[in-house]
This record gives sequence, structure tokens and C-alpha cells, in this order.
Amino acid sequence: MDAKTPPKMLRNDLDRYRLRAFLESLGSDQLEIRKEAVDLADVADILHGNPKAVWFQNVNGSNLSVVGNVVGSRARMAHALGVAPDKILEEIQRRLELRPELIELDQSEAPVQEVVLTGKDADLTKLPAHLQHGLDGAPYISASIDYAIDPRNGVTNSGMRRIMLRGADNAGIDLNAPSDLRAIYQAAVARGEKLPVSFVVGAHPIDTLSATMKVPVDELGLVASLRGGTMPVVKCRTNDIKVPADAELVIEGYLDEKGYSEKEGPYGEYLGYYGLVKQNPIFHVTAITHRTDAVFQTATISGAHMDMTDTSNLEALRMELNVWQALKTVIREPVAVYAPVSAGGSMSVRFTLRQRFAGEARSALYTVLGSVGVKHAFALDPDIDIYNDKMFEWAFGTRYQPDQDIIVITGVRSSPLDPSLHGKMSGAKAGYDLTWPMQHAQRWDLATPKPPTYAGKKFPSIKAALEDGPKWFEELMAATGSRDGREIVREIDTFRGKGLERDEQGKYFIKK
Ligand SMILES: Cc1cc2nc3c(=O)[nH]c(=O)nc-3n(C[C@H](O)[C@H](O)[C@H](O)COP(=O)(O)O)c2cc1C
Repeated sequence: MDAKTPPKMLRNDLDRYRLRAFLESLGSDQLEIRKEAVDLADVADILHGNPKAVWFQNVNGSNLSVVGNVVGSRARMAHALGVAPDKILEEIQRRLELRPELIELDQSEAPVQEVVLTGKDADLTKLPAHLQHGLDGAPYISASIDYAIDPRNGVTNSGMRRIMLRGADNAGIDLNAPSDLRAIYQAAVARGEKLPVSFVVGAHPIDTLSATMKVPVDELGLVASLRGGTMPVVKCRTNDIKVPADAELVIEGYLDEKGYSEKEGPYGEYLGYYGLVKQNPIFHVTAITHRTDAVFQTATISGAHMDMTDTSNLEALRMELNVWQALKTVIREPVAVYAPVSAGGSMSVRFTLRQRFAGEARSALYTVLGSVGVKHAFALDPDIDIYNDKMFEWAFGTRYQPDQDIIVITGVRSSPLDPSLHGKMSGAKAGYDLTWPMQHAQRWDLATPKPPTYAGKKFPSIKAALEDGPKWFEELMAATGSRDGREIVREIDTFRGKGLERDEQGKYFIKK
């Protein structure tokens, strides 16, 4: 990756991947624009269960507009990547191969530093953060993408971490789950050092997706690759971290050296329940920079409509990518991977494969359960459209025997937020083999019945067709171009006792 001398970037380039431009590209089927004044207190209720992204353009007490649910649907994520919803994985994998190029801008050229607030002006309580769930500990900044440099190797790490408001210049962040940032921070604390962190709030969906992905590369470069290769970056004003220069808003600061010193939470979590109060680090603000017309982003996470939350949709894509990569190590032909968002995106995954050898589906299930943090994995044949819940239920009901086609592994690491663990740290996972045994692949009776198409050879008469060899009834209709069928029944009947037979599939023929 090269950091180049700053060429003058065209204004267009600096707006192409800004959140505002993405919102403006959405139609009214995907975006609800609210021009009337709204109180921050009402934002959560309007977003909850809303299938659209909602852009609040007149927020009481804020000169910034607010948007939520930006990535709360696969359709919007597909739009961000410029592909159909079922081509997202393919497109991400294609982009991951692109060589990243970071173009470092002078701070005076960076849109995200059009406004620079430091000292008392860098006030978190002036940002339009709202209370998201009834029992949350405080309003949270939730669509916050963190960038931090690991001082041990100079590599930039990125993730999403929520920020709980505590005051004007400090906040709680949740750094309990195993993550790279947690490891980097724990090492800094062990050395007695602070860890500089900058949070982007208001990012293009591609940047947001990138933050949740786990790929062992410099994650600033990862964002660039996923955007298509090139990305403008700028050094923050009060630390050495580089961030996307075209973001909407950045909160600069550091995690202090005291470690897990303060209570954070509770918070409505990504599996649809509250996470308890935790001991967590404190983030101290040193600057806030933003575009003059910045859009402040919030992310939906919990509640009764998990399928419409930003978090479930992000989790699902990340899970699908991880499963796809695991599958590639064990089978030749994975066909599709889908993580249903209603299950939080990470609890359940379906995949289809073209089996070449007996047992491939089970091998794949063991690999997925062993290497990816998913609880339920379903292997299916490629004739099943795994995005379609009705087809999935049909396959589950008809191609699966509970005493034979299930794999259960126990005592493995599980998400502590899964309430069915009842406080335990490890749990069980199950793999469901919904594929047909290999020998079933050729069975005509296991093909999905479809309406007749009347494809078949023409014959001068039904008799000639029957004498030619066994025929399905559909072929007999095709033989004479029948558009009715009942006259064929009558004609077949005339051959009974005169050599008419039916083979084991029920095809008709006249024995010569
Ligand atoms: C909207 C959203 C909010 C998240 N908030 C947190 C959080 O507060 N704490 C956390 O540990 N992980 C959180 N995650 C998950 C991490 O961002 C994710 O595991 C990421 O890959 C971690 O990156 P890292 O391992 O490079 O540090 C969140 C994910 C999403 C999509």
C-alpha cells in the first residue's frame, strides 16, 4: 500500500463515498426523509421495525441531520456495492483481491476536517446521540467505526464499538468481546500506556461493512480495497491515526491506561436482549472534526425486528463471508451461503453445495461449526433457494431425519450474549445435513414437480407415439400437439387389452 504525495483530489471523488451521497442515491422505497422537527427522544421509536433508512433532517437541539437503519437491509447493501443482493458475497471477494491505495490528503483539503473542534468545543453531549432502548444506561453513539494503530507493528485496526455518553469529554466503550482492539488495548495497558483511537461516525455502507470484517491485513487498506482500490485518508488533528478523509464526522481521543475501570451498559444487544452492566475502559475526547453539512449516523441493534437492524445485517454478511472462506478449504463447489438476519446474523447459517463425493456435506458442516462462530449450520442441495424461507422449510421438513442427519458438538466457545447458555461460557452447536444422499441425485421422483411444458417429439398419432416407446402423459400430449389432454385419455383407453402397458415410472407404451 502506498501513501502518496497528495494530488488534488476532485471534489467529486471526495463525495463519491460519503454517506450523504449514498443516501441521496436511494429511492423512496429504501429511504424515508423526515423534514419535520423531531426530538432525539423519538428517534428510536421511529427507527424500530422500520424497513427503510430514515433521515431526520431537522433534529431539535442539533445542527447536524441524523440517519439510522442505513445498512438495515440487504437491498441497501447491494445498492452500495452496485450488485444484486445474491451477488454481494461474490463482489466482496472480488474486491478483496484489489490492491489498496491510500491517498493522503493535506488536512486543509480533507472534507471531514472542514470543522475542527478542540478543547471545550469538542463536546460529546452536543452530538445528536439518542437513547436507543428503554433500559440502556445512557444515550449511545452506535454507528461508530474505530480506527487505532497497533504500536507494536504500526498496522491500523478497525472495528465498530458503541460509545456510551458519560459527559462532555469522556465516554464508555464496550471492549469485552474478543477482538483485535481488545488485544491491542490490553497490551497498551500492560505497558502503562494510553491507546489513541479515532471514531468515524457517518460512513458509506462499504466502510461500515469493512469495519466488521476480520481479514488479517491493515484495515485502512481493507476499506480501500472494498471501495474499489483507492481511498483518500487524512491524519487526525490530535493523534497520528489516519481516517477516511471523506467521512462525515470523526471523534478523536484515546482510551486511558487504567484498563477496565468503569461501568458501561446496560445496552440492548445484537441478539435481541439486554447486555448487562460491564466493566469497560474510558474513552477521552481530544477533538471532534466534521464536514460542514455532516450527517450523523446511528445504528439500530436490538428489539423485536432483528431482520431490520443495521447490526444483524452487518453480522449476517460477515458470517456469510467467513463461512464461504471456511467452505472453500473443505469442498470444491460451495454454491451459496446465507445467514438469516432474524437470528441476529450470526446464530444460523444455510449453505448449498454441489456434492461430488459422499459425505462432503457433513465434512463441510464440521468445518463450519469448528471454525466459524455460528450456532446452527444447514447444508442443502443447490436446487434449494436458501434465501427463500419457504423453500428452506420444505427442505428441512422433507430431506432431513433428526436421528441421522444431525451433528451436535458440545463444550465449544459460544457467544456469551446467547441467553440460552444461562450464564455458561461454552455451549453446543448443531449441523443439519439437509442434502440428499448421493445416490438420490438421479431419482426422477425427487425432482421438484413443475407445470408441464409439453416438450417432446411429434408423432402422426397417439398409437405411433405409444409404439415408439414409453412416454409420460405430457409427452403424449406433445406428440399430437394436444391443448386439452382428455381426448388422449379416451384414446389411450382404446388400447387397453391391445398391448397397452405402463412401465415402473408409469410411462405408457404399446408392447410390440
Ligand atoms: C453496529 C455494531 C456495533 C458493534 N459494537 C461492538 C462493541 O461495542 N464492542 C465490541 O466488542 N464489538 C462490537 N461490534 C463487533 C465488532 O465491531 C467486530 O467484532 C469487529 O470485527 C471487531 O474488530 P477487531 O477485531 O478488528 O477489533 C459491533 C458490531 C456492529 C456491527
